[in-house]
Amino acid sequence: MKISKKILELLHEQIGIEANASNYYLYVSSWCKVSGYDGAAAFFKNHSTEEREHMMKIIQYLNDLKIDTIIPQIQKPAQKMKSLEQACKTSLENERKVSKAIDRIINTAQNENDHRTNFFLEWFVHEQIEEEDLFESILQKFEVIGRDKLAIHEIDKILEKLSHKSS
Ligand code: FEO
Repeated sequence: MKISKKILELLHEQIGIEANASNYYLYVSSWCKVSGYDGAAAFFKNHSTEEREHMMKIIQYLNDLKIDTIIPQIQKPAQKMKSLEQACKTSLENERKVSKAIDRIINTAQNENDHRTNFFLEWFVHEQIEEEDLFESILQKFEVIGRDKLAIHEIDKILEKLSHKSS
């Protein structure tokens, strides 16, 4: 095998992390839709698809190395969304955890001189920087525009525009 057992284990874990992220965003999108936030619903739906693509990238990487993958069970996201701001805050927290998980695999790959995996994960590092920046900038909008109904409507429209960007 071209990668170590440890790296394989971590990549399998990462498949699960990305799958759970996709599931979480799908739930948030659904919550936004029934709460009347159509722009946010579109934004989070796209994000769900992106996370699935991240999972697929790892599966593809392993398959290219002639390694089949373990497709894990996905977790049921906590069904207790209270506000759009809370959804964005939880998203940022989750993305920070994903970044840490990616860092952990990279550190392991570097310790093992696994340049192949290290190189493969570079894309994920850039992606995580973008995603953390994105949610930080969305959260800043609540500070700048406000939290009353009109402000939230404005933020929903911004998320709608962002959904076109990422699709
Ligand atoms: Fe694929 Fe947003 O972590």
